[in-house]
Amino acid sequence: MKNTSGNSSSKKNAGYKAAEYVEDGMVLGLGTGSTTHFFIEKVGMRIRDEGIKVMGIPTSFQSLLIAKEWNIPITTLEEHDIDLSVDGADEVDCDFNLIKGGGAAHTKEKIVDYAADKFIVIVDESKVVEELGTFPVPVEVLPDASRMVIKTLEDMGATCEIRMAQRKDGPVITDNGNFVIDAKFDNIESPAHLEIDLNSIPGVVENGIFSQMVDKVIIGTDDGTKEL
Ligand code: 5RP
Repeated sequence: MKNTSGNSSSKKNAGYKAAEYVEDGMVLGLGTGSTTHFFIEKVGMRIRDEGIKVMGIPTSFQSLLIAKEWNIPITTLEEHDIDLSVDGADEVDCDFNLIKGGGAAHTKEKIVDYAADKFIVIVDESKVVEELGTFPVPVEVLPDASRMVIKTLEDMGATCEIRMAQRKDGPVITDNGNFVIDAKFDNIESPAHLEIDLNSIPGVVENGIFSQMVDKVIIGTDDGTKEL
């Protein structure tokens, strides 16, 4: 389920601003999505124009391809720690809790973003909310467990849909070979508790709530950025 709100100039402003925080020698977590696309692009330009030396750890096949297009050297979490991770979000609240996973990449994103010394989120203004929950929470599940996980999520009060592919018959398959259930809760009183509760359901691989992880939020606007 893609969050198609926001326009590309605000996304570009946010992504390009975040690239200013990249320093020579850093290992970078490369998030996924249309906003992060601009961040990766700008890092590539800085490598080309300023000769900075950085390495990237992609959070998806999509970000791997963009990094390769911009000649950003790739590494893995097996080989390096991460200095700075930059990633988009589908919602961000005033306590910096996030919903991610509109691009079905939240499992790898959470591993990489959590591992980073510093985590910057880049969004346009349409993603900033008072309380999480207008956007359904993406829950990556092992395919065999999906029916049982949906039953449990419904018992928890969610309305659920298995995310369907748009240009393929059947469900979206994540980079990890799993399904995604989009779980819409009426309200999310405690993102931190819901994040833990969702991951306690057998068969759930990871959910899209990111609580207490973010160091900085860069909000792109039509003519610049704001930082929180
Ligand atoms: C992918 C994500 C993305 O970061 C999120 O969906 C935001 O994407 P975009 O920048 O295209 O709006 O979590 O799983």
